[in-house]
Amino acid sequence: MNFKLKTNLFSTIILLCLVFSISTNSFAQLNSGNFTQYTEKDGLPGVQVNKVVVDNLGHIWLDTLNGIAHEIQNQLNFVNNFSEVSKELLDEMKTEIEKGNLDDAKEIMNDVIQNLEKINHHGKRADGIVKGMLQHSRSSSGVKEPTDINALCDEYLRLSYHGLRAKDKTFNATMKSDFDQTLEKINVIPQDIGRVVLNLINNAFYVVNEKRQMNISGYEPTVSVSTKKMNGKVEIKVADNGNGIPQKVVDKIFQPFFTTKPTGQGTGLGLSLSYDIIKAHGGEIRVETKEGEGTEFIIQLKA
Ligand SMILES: Nc1ncnc2c1ncn2[C@@H]1O[C@H](COP(=O)(O)OP(=O)(O)OP(=O)(O)O)[C@@H](O)[C@H]1O
Ligand SMILES: [Mg+2]
Repeated sequence: MNFKLKTNLFSTIILLCLVFSISTNSFAQLNSGNFTQYTEKDGLPGVQVNKVVVDNLGHIWLDTLNGIAHEIQNQLNFVNNFSEVSKELLDEMKTEIEKGNLDDAKEIMNDVIQNLEKINHHGKRADGIVKGMLQHSRSSSGVKEPTDINALCDEYLRLSYHGLRAKDKTFNATMKSDFDQTLEKINVIPQDIGRVVLNLINNAFYVVNEKRQMNISGYEPTVSVSTKKMNGKVEIKVADNGNGIPQKVVDKIFQPFFTTKPTGQGTGLGLSLSYDIIKAHGGEIRVETKEGEGTEFIIQLKA
């Protein structure tokens, strides 16, 4: 195993332990009594946190961390196995060279090259999982507060668009929004709902950008975000005119680590965390999709 790979894996493990210990500490702190009183001293305004909400979110993170640990373990198993086999192959190669069997030695060398490519692939995958997890775990107050859902959707639509433009100058898509102006503020954890909306919008921009690269004449990549008030509920819709989700895949999209994106571009955690966050808010999330035409994610929250 080369030095860079070793360093990457080492930092991956350290990061995982760090996040694990931070989460465990903060939840241990939050879980005493039915309500926890925070003061300004705790870095939060004087608020009471409902234990039920915190418990739900605590489980989300512990379940997710458990899944992440398993997934990284899987990748490390590949790395360990392939590196052990490669060492044996190199020993064999040495013997063949000493015997003057250069053709056999070359064949073994090709196997070692393939193994190193696999080690690199699985090392990068572990790296991507940790990076994705850190991205998804940006600080959340864990506190519900009256939130303007229109402003939140608008902010994340722009954030997603400009984020993608910054990474890829050729990226271009039409953003559309249709916000119900009669919507009143609703009580949610804004950072968590923001994370859900951001993931849906990022996914939508990703697929329309993919379809754009197919050079279909007349195709206009478009992502639309809308809100609507409907009997005691608030509905948020994120729609795209990408290629839709194939029927055999649609049942899996909310599973942790399910991704069709290339290594390094997606961890497959976005929708599974979104699902858990919406459930913890007592809401619903569902998908409607048509192959070749596009996809719509619909969230309903209590008003
Ligand atoms: N709007 C969409 N159109 C087509 N396929 C989608 C759409 N949204 C999600 N998917 C499919 O669902 C998979 C899982 O999405 P999810 O957001 O959980 O993970 P990801 O985007 O692959 O990675 P991450 O969000 O962790 O960076 C995607 O890889 C893609 O195959
Ligand atoms: Mg995603």
